[in-house]
This record gives sequence, structure tokens and C-alpha cells, in this order.
Amino acid sequence: MSLSGKVAFVTGGSRGIGLAIARALLDEGARVAITATSDATLHAGSAALAAALPSAGRADDVLAIRADVRQHEQVDRAVASTVERFGGIDILVNNAGVGIFRPVADLSIDEWHTILDTNLTGVFYCCRAALPHLRARGGGWIVNISSLSGKHPFADAAAYCASKAGLNAFSDALMQEVRHDGIRVTCIMPGSVRTEFGARRPGSDDWRLAPEDIAQAVCDVVRHPARSLPSAIEIRPSQPPKKS
Ligand SMILES: NC(=O)c1ccc[n+]([C@@H]2O[C@H](COP(=O)([O-])OP(=O)(O)OC[C@H]3O[C@@H](n4cnc5c(N)ncnc54)[C@H](OP(=O)(O)O)[C@@H]3O)[C@@H](O)[C@H]2O)c1
Repeated sequence: MSLSGKVAFVTGGSRGIGLAIARALLDEGARVAITATSDATLHAGSAALAAALPSAGRADDVLAIRADVRQHEQVDRAVASTVERFGGIDILVNNAGVGIFRPVADLSIDEWHTILDTNLTGVFYCCRAALPHLRARGGGWIVNISSLSGKHPFADAAAYCASKAGLNAFSDALMQEVRHDGIRVTCIMPGSVRTEFGARRPGSDDWRLAPEDIAQAVCDVVRHPARSLPSAIEIRPSQPPKKS
């Protein structure tokens, strides 16, 4: 099923997993708005998308908007700009996220708020702004990029794991709330993905997932028939380093 005629809004679409998702949705025919906080990453991301556009004459199918998901006024403006440019929104991908990994005793108050405000409150702001537009189209998708760490917490990542556990619960509750309006909510929980996210670990990272693996999962989800709702998806590297 082509996504031609559909409009997607991808937060944190300037690099990493979000950029791969934006590219895959464009490949499937959708028009795509991407957001990020920095002009530099947005510029690089939109240039990469323009270069990868599947056919000429689609340069207007990409919209790059500077918007911080922690600021609800900026989110509202970004959603309004997308609707003004493309006529509506069918697919919201809440991908923007940050990871700061430190023991709780060393985590600053600002770092705690940065993580929770981006990974959890930002998703609420985006859903709240987009839901009336999804309803106006008669339905749509919300895809939340969570993490396996929301189900399997680990040391030195309490704030991050808590933000993703909260996002898992938020997704499940929202899924039940809006499903009868034709709005389907999916929570994707990746394991380790090869991006610039978090601290780089020493050694080869060939075993990690590629951003394109998560993008493929998003495209698979939004092509499901109307009767079917894959509400939660875990996706992990098939051969991580063995634990000794
Ligand atoms: N990489 C992994 O191993 C992994 C595993 C599981 C889940 N995830 C989740 O996948 C998502 C994407 O991760 P990634 O690895 O692609 O990270 P990344 O490479 O660091 O990219 C993060 C993206 O989010 C944007 N962003 C950050 N803060 C933002 C904010 N406040 N408002 C709007 N945009 C913001 C960044 O652009 P700017 O810096 O310009 O704002 C960038 O486009 C995150 O939610 C992460 O928790 C990642």
C-alpha cells in the first residue's frame, strides 16, 4: 500500500532514527515534516532528504521546522505550519529523544527535566496538538519511538528508563482512548541502534540495529489494514555481544 497523499510529522527527523523514518516515509510516497531544535542538524537533514527523494518534482514534499518538543507553543506552531503547507496530518511519529546516562546522585536537576520534558512531556504536547488534525482526516497513526529500556531498566540510566517506561504507559492508555476514532497508536521499543545517541561504547558496533531497521518497522506498521493494530513492537539486535 502506497502512502501517497499521506502527511507525516516526524519529531527529531534531522538525523539518526528520525531521519531514516522520514526518508522511508518519503520513499513510500508521503509528504513529510521534520522537526529538530538546531538549524544546523535541520539543514543537514533536509539536504539529505532532498538528495534521497525517490523522484524529481517532489522537492516540495519536505518541510523542515525548528521546534523544540519541550515548548508547547513551538509544537503548536510546527503542527499548524504543517497543516497549512500540506493540508492536514495523517501520521505523527514521536521520535525526538535524549539520553543522559549518569548515576542518580550525579544527575543534575536540569538534566532530569531535559530527559523527562523531551522524552515524555514532549510526546504529550505533540499528541495534543496533532489529535484534532488526525480526527479531521477521519483517523491516522501515532507512532511513539520508545525503548526496550522502558521495560528493562539498567544502572546509570534511571531518568531515561523512567521516561521510556512512562512513554510506554502513555502510549497504551492513548491507544485505548482514540482507537474508536480510527486513530491507531503504536509504541516501538528498539534495543541498541547505531546513531550518535548517548555515549559511544568502545569496540565494534556492527551488531547494533541500523536506523533503517526502525524506519522499516514504522512503514510496516502504518500499512496495516484498518482492522489491525500492532500496538507494541519490540525490536532488538539479533546477535548482540554474548554476556560472559
Ligand atoms: N540510538 C539508540 O540506541 C536508541 C535505542 C532505543 C530508542 N531510541 C530512541 O530513538 C529516538 C531517536 O534516537 P536517535 O538514536 O536517532 O538519536 P539522535 O541521533 O541523537 O537524534 C535525535 C533527534 O532528536 C532531535 N531532538 C533532540 N531534542 C529535541 C527536542 N527537544 N525537540 C525536538 N527535537 C529534538 C535531534 O535534533 P537536534 O539535536 O537538532 O534537536 C535529532 O534530530 C529517541 O527517542 C531515542 O530515545 C534510540
